[in-house]
Amino acid sequence: MNGFTPERPGARQFPDGFLWGTGTSAYQIEGAVNDDGRAPSIWDVYTHTPGAIHNGDTGDVACDSYHRLDDDIEMLVGLGVNAYRFSVSWPRVQPSGDGPVNQSGLDYYRELATRLRENGIVPVATLYHWDLPQALSDRGGWPNRDTAQLLAEYAALMGDALGDLVGMWITVNEPLQVVNQGYRTGTHAPGVRDDAAAAAATHHILLAHGLALQALRATAGSDAKIGITVDPNPYLAYDEDGHPAADILDAEYNRMYLDPVLQGRYPIGARAHTLPPQALIRSGDMDLISAPIDFLGINYYRAHYIRRGDWSDLRLGEVPLAGHPGFVEYLPPDVDRTIMNWLIVPDALYGQLVRLRGEAGSVPLYVTENGCAVDDYVNPEGTVDDYERVSYLHGHLDAISRAIEDGIDVAGYFHWSLLDNFEWAQGYRRRFGLHYVEFGTGRRLPKRSAQFYGEVARTGQLPTLEEALRRHPSADAAPASAAAA
Ligand code: FCB
Repeated sequence: MNGFTPERPGARQFPDGFLWGTGTSAYQIEGAVNDDGRAPSIWDVYTHTPGAIHNGDTGDVACDSYHRLDDDIEMLVGLGVNAYRFSVSWPRVQPSGDGPVNQSGLDYYRELATRLRENGIVPVATLYHWDLPQALSDRGGWPNRDTAQLLAEYAALMGDALGDLVGMWITVNEPLQVVNQGYRTGTHAPGVRDDAAAAAATHHILLAHGLALQALRATAGSDAKIGITVDPNPYLAYDEDGHPAADILDAEYNRMYLDPVLQGRYPIGARAHTLPPQALIRSGDMDLISAPIDFLGINYYRAHYIRRGDWSDLRLGEVPLAGHPGFVEYLPPDVDRTIMNWLIVPDALYGQLVRLRGEAGSVPLYVTENGCAVDDYVNPEGTVDDYERVSYLHGHLDAISRAIEDGIDVAGYFHWSLLDNFEWAQGYRRRFGLHYVEFGTGRRLPKRSAQFYGEVARTGQLPTLEEALRRHPSADAAPASAAAA
């Protein structure tokens, strides 16, 4: 039953069978970059490039999850989730990207998936969460069509190796960021800034999804659920200049990935230089890309109020929209934001879910990432009182529950992240975890948000925020912003 429950006034009940999960990705947590035959990925090379990453941080050690499987399983069991989304490091299981497999790499993921299942946790594996084998980048990376075919071969290998254990497969995580930050703005590995390379990468990462889907269908078993994770960002107009700009951004950054997968065509309304050139689109490609998926994964963090503009004409409260040359973003003073200046707008998640019900038809939706960075610290009592995260989580779960109540098929939620980790260009300064990680020792500590989320996951009930804060009191008083939200 959805909606309000009489037992706990104001509480919302999620449907039976809802997947309550949390997520991570290989490069962000594993470390052990030189162990047992793993070869470098583009992120190993990029993080060792001077100036690329805040503070010169790298994923060399990260959370050391490759050596701390017991700790990770213990955290998941302690939390009480019934699903865990991890990613497979391609260069750990197939070091050169098209050569022989590396059995020790496969063993690690088999052990992980086995232990998850033993504990009643559904293993959800992402094949490509950004760590392309460097050997393939040296051969052209995503602008090269061969990379798509090679991802499919790697997918088949993983389907064979883990098909009996993994319940859900995500082919590619956030193709938009692979393309935009990897090849257009150069703020992620491999650090390329070239519109033509980005346009080619767009088609090839989507083709890789289509080919990997086909490969997994053939290898992962008939029960396997296979989908893709996209990050459709809500672009909202805040004045009359904003509407055309919002439409352009929606076409170039959201529909560029949604339309091919859901409708088998590139979007109308995107500017020509962002579209893959016709010459790259071979007959049959769009059919592969739009082959039926079992679910659509949505990553959602924030909303953007935007208009066209640049540095030279910024108005009060505006900043250039990171990663989107030629657009500016307005940060309304009355909208809460995280320490990364990401606007906290749970209603925009609701809006995206409503929109996707229209576009995805009957395909179930999963929120495969959602979370926030907080300036967490361990207080003298030994607790991490991250009430901002409790409040953020509460607001977004409430939005999802409203969407479900309105008949939208949202079948699961994965909080980003299980534990603090290597946050790409931001290094270790941005903590997204439900567990605090003491980098250096690798010690993990559940935050208040882990207690809160664990209780929601175990009961399937979302209490009111006031009740949640009452039940998880801090050593200090809860910050006013969390209590008032
Ligand atoms: C997403 C990434 C994920 C994490 C979050 C904060 O774009 O998929 O790995 O870094 O952002």
